[in-house]
Amino acid sequence: MAFSDTFLDELAARCDIYEIVSRYVTLKKSGSNWFGLCPFHTEKTGSFSVNTEKQIYHCFGCGAGGSVYNFIMQIENLTFPEAVEFLANLAGVPLPAQDAGVSDNRKRLLELNRDAARFFYQTLSSPEGRVGYEYLLGRGLKPGTIKRYGLGFAPDSWDSLLNAMTEKGYTKSELRELGLIKPNQRGGFYDQFRNRVMFPIIDIRGNVIAFGGRVMDDSKPKYLNSPETKLFSKSRNLFSLNFAKKSASRRLILAEGYMDVIALNQAGFTEAVASLGTALTQEQAKLMKRFADEVVISYDADNAGQNAAARAAEILKPADLKVRILKIPGAKDPDEFIREHGREAFSALLERSEDHMEFTLERIRNNFDLTTDEGRVGFLKEAAKALARLSSPIEREIYASRAAESGNVGKDALLSEIERNRRAYLRRVKNEETRRLLSPEKSVQPVSRALRYEDVRTARAEEGIIALLSREPAFAQTLQAAGIGPEDFTSPFLKKICAFLLEQAQAGNSVSSGALSQFLAPEEMSELGRILSAPDMGDHQSAGRDYIRIIQETQAKHAVASGEDPLLAMRDLHKEKKSYGGSLS
Ligand code: UTP
Ligand code: MN
Repeated sequence: MAFSDTFLDELAARCDIYEIVSRYVTLKKSGSNWFGLCPFHTEKTGSFSVNTEKQIYHCFGCGAGGSVYNFIMQIENLTFPEAVEFLANLAGVPLPAQDAGVSDNRKRLLELNRDAARFFYQTLSSPEGRVGYEYLLGRGLKPGTIKRYGLGFAPDSWDSLLNAMTEKGYTKSELRELGLIKPNQRGGFYDQFRNRVMFPIIDIRGNVIAFGGRVMDDSKPKYLNSPETKLFSKSRNLFSLNFAKKSASRRLILAEGYMDVIALNQAGFTEAVASLGTALTQEQAKLMKRFADEVVISYDADNAGQNAAARAAEILKPADLKVRILKIPGAKDPDEFIREHGREAFSALLERSEDHMEFTLERIRNNFDLTTDEGRVGFLKEAAKALARLSSPIEREIYASRAAESGNVGKDALLSEIERNRRAYLRRVKNEETRRLLSPEKSVQPVSRALRYEDVRTARAEEGIIALLSREPAFAQTLQAAGIGPEDFTSPFLKKICAFLLEQAQAGNSVSSGALSQFLAPEEMSELGRILSAPDMGDHQSAGRDYIRIIQETQAKHAVASGEDPLLAMRDLHKEKKSYGGSLS
C-alpha cells in the first residue's frame, strides 16, 4: 500500500524544504539557491544546496540529494513511510487512514528477524546447540552476557531455520530478502547460517536488523554477516550501540570485533561499540557524535589494526569528536587483554590512552632515525605536515613543542614550518571543494554503482530531457512530436522518471519531487536531485533539440546493430529531425 500522490504533495507543501533543512543546517542565500555545509559528509566549503523552487536539495560534494522526504530519511535514518510519518507529525497533519499500513512490509521483516534471533537463541540452549554454548563459555562469556546479547546458535543443517520460519507463516521471499536463506541449484533454498554461533545486530531502537555468525574452528570465513538489506546498512550502524547509548559518559570505546565489545561489556565498559569489521564511515562517525564527544579507538594491536586506527581517527576528527587511541601491550585485542589481565588493567590502559596527535607523532617518529641530521629533518617535515591539519592554534603550539623537542630544534622554527604547511593545506582543501562545486559535470556517472550509465552520452541527453521537463512541462509535447518516449531511454531509472513526469504533464499536474520519492529508491532520488540542480543554461529549444538528436542517433545505431536496414534507420532519423525542427519554430 502506498501514500497517494495528493497526500504526499500536500504534506510536502506544508514542509517547505528550506524550513526543514534549516533545522539541521545553516543555510545562506547564493543566487537562486541556498547553500550550507553538507550534513552528510565532512567539508569546509558549503557544497550542499537547497532549491526552494523545485523543493529539492543536492550536495555537489557527496552526491546526496532528493526531496524533503529523502532529506528526512537520510538525516534521521528513516524509511520512506517513517519519514512521511515524521513530517506529518511535525506539520500536525494526520496520516490518512488507508496509509496506516504502509510500513507493513518493514514491520514483518523486523518481526522475522526477531523470530529468527529467538530461534537461534532457543537453539543455543537445546542439545543441538550445546556445542555453541560450550564454545561461548570457553571464550569466557558468562551466561548472563550470552543472554544480554541474545547470542544464539544456527544448527548444522540445511533447512532448520527455513522450516521453523515458514511454519510461522513467513515466506521464502521474505527470508531471502533478509539474507537468511539462499537459493540452491535445484530451485530450492538453504539456510545461510549453519553450524555457527550467532550474534544479532541490534539498532538503537532495539530492532534486530542483521546477524553475524562465527565458526567454532579455524574454517573460513570466520564471520559470516547478513548482506545489506532494507533493514540493514553496514555503514550506518555500530554493533552494541543499543547498549552504549545508555552509558552516562559522553565517551565511546570503538573496537574492531563482536567479541571485543562483548568482553568489554562484561567487564563493565558498556560504552563499547564495534564498526563491524569494515573501515569506519563518516555516517558511523556522525552516529557516534550523537552520543559522545570523545572516542577511544581500541583496535587490534597488530599493524593492520594500528593502521586502521589511524584511518578511523581521520574519519572521527572532522566529526568534531575528540579522539584517543589505546594501545594494547602484549595481547592481540581488547577481548584477549581483558581475559588475561582483567577489568582494572584495561581501565588503566584507558587512562593512559594517547590522544590522536601523540599517536600520530609517534608513528612518524618510528619512521626516522633521529640520531642523524637527515632523519631529524625528515621527521620534522612530516610532523609539520601532520600538525598543520590541526584546526586549533593552541593544539598546534603544544604539539609543536613536543615535536620540536624530539627533533631537537627550536619551537619557533617548527611553528613557522607548520604555518607554511597549514596555508598550503587550507588552499588545497579550498581548491578541491571549489573545483567540485564549479564542475558538478565532472562526475558524469551516478554515485551509486547500480545506477551507472552504460552509454554516458545518451544518458546525459536523457538527464537533460528530464531537467527540461521539470522546468517546462510543455516540453512533453515537443517530445511527443519527435516520437520520443520513456521507452527510448537507455538508463532504466531515467526511464522511470521520464515516464512519471510525462504522466504528470498529461494529467496537467505540476511536477512534484515529493510524490516521486515514493517511487524512486533514495539513490535514484539523489541522482534526480543532481539532475535538477544543474544550472539552467537557458535556450531550452536548442538544448532540447540536441538531446533529442542524441537519443535518435543512439536509436539508429542500435537499429543498425540489431540488423535493421541501416539506410531505412537513417532515413527515419532524418525525417524525425526535420519534423521535430519544424514543430518547435
Ligand atoms: P577479527 O579477525 O579481529 O576477529 O575481526 P575478532 O573480532 O578478534 O574475532 P574472534 O575474537 O576471533 O572471534 C574483527 C571483526 O571483523 C569482522 C567481524 O565483525 C569481526 O568481529 N569480520 C572478521 C568479518 O566480518 N568476517 C570475517 O571473516 C572476519
Ligand atoms: Mn578476537
